[in-house]
Amino acid sequence: MKFAPGRTAIVTGAGVGIGKAIARRLTDEGVRLVLADIDGDLVEKVAADLPITPLVFVGDLSVRENATRLIATCRDGYGRVDILVNNAGGGVIRPTLSHTEETLRATIDRNLWTTIYCSLEALPLMKAAGYGRIINMGADSVRNGLDWHAIYNAAKGGVHGLTTGWAREFASDGITVNAIAPSATRTEAYDAFETAAATDPAMRATLDAVLAVIPAGRAGTVEEIAALTAYLASDESGFTTGQVLSINGGSTML
Ligand SMILES: NC(=O)c1ccc[n+]([C@@H]2O[C@H](COP(=O)([O-])OP(=O)(O)OC[C@H]3O[C@@H](n4cnc5c(N)ncnc54)[C@H](O)[C@@H]3O)[C@@H](O)[C@H]2O)c1
Repeated sequence: MKFAPGRTAIVTGAGVGIGKAIARRLTDEGVRLVLADIDGDLVEKVAADLPITPLVFVGDLSVRENATRLIATCRDGYGRVDILVNNAGGGVIRPTLSHTEETLRATIDRNLWTTIYCSLEALPLMKAAGYGRIINMGADSVRNGLDWHAIYNAAKGGVHGLTTGWAREFASDGITVNAIAPSATRTEAYDAFETAAATDPAMRATLDAVLAVIPAGRAGTVEEIAALTAYLASDESGFTTGQVLSINGGSTML
């Protein structure tokens, strides 16, 4: 991918899985990074394992002042904010009527408020620079209504809605806004679930149900998500905006 020299990116939720793979890929592309996560131990370890040391920010990004400090870390550290990957998230996946007040709010906070606050802080800088790339991590379950995903889908559907709205609003400022909608992805959590499923028929049945809606018959890899992220983050993707791009082995089409 082509990136102008000195490009910078903020990757939220970089402590595990998809975010960690995006951090690796963008580092390989020569992008200067700020990695952010609510879990300091995880994100510090990811940072330490990269060949080029990134800046690190630890904090809950569903709190506005933390989002403000994150964007300032990139601006003050590198002098610019070119790329924002709103990857922090994660679902509390359970039957709708089993949700508690706490799990309802956690699901919306982690996925939607993190995206809103980080973008609100980054957009003025991108607008002033006349350049920006925002990549939001959505979810393919919004399209197929996967079992038990309704509350999570409410949050990710909101993320998809922000994507189209901001893409239109900031198109003439040189800013693109796109979302990636993964289906099941082979993260550390997926691997742990699969291992446990080997001796638990109910968990195996859950996994089989997830895979049954994927024609490719497998979960995606974090590297596959990171590759599309790198394209959307690159200088070459300037005419792609307002899209929700599924990576789903054919689970939904069009
Ligand atoms: N793994 C999948 O199968 C899958 C499928 C569809 C969408 N997604 C989305 O992709 C993204 C990455 O998923 P993943 O499975 O790699 O990791 P994950 O969903 O388990 O967690 C992502 C990271 O976000 C961090 N985080 C959560 N809330 C935060 C907050 N308030 N402030 C700062 N950091 C916070 C977590 O600590 C974690 O390191 C998430 O947005 C997830 O919803 C994942």
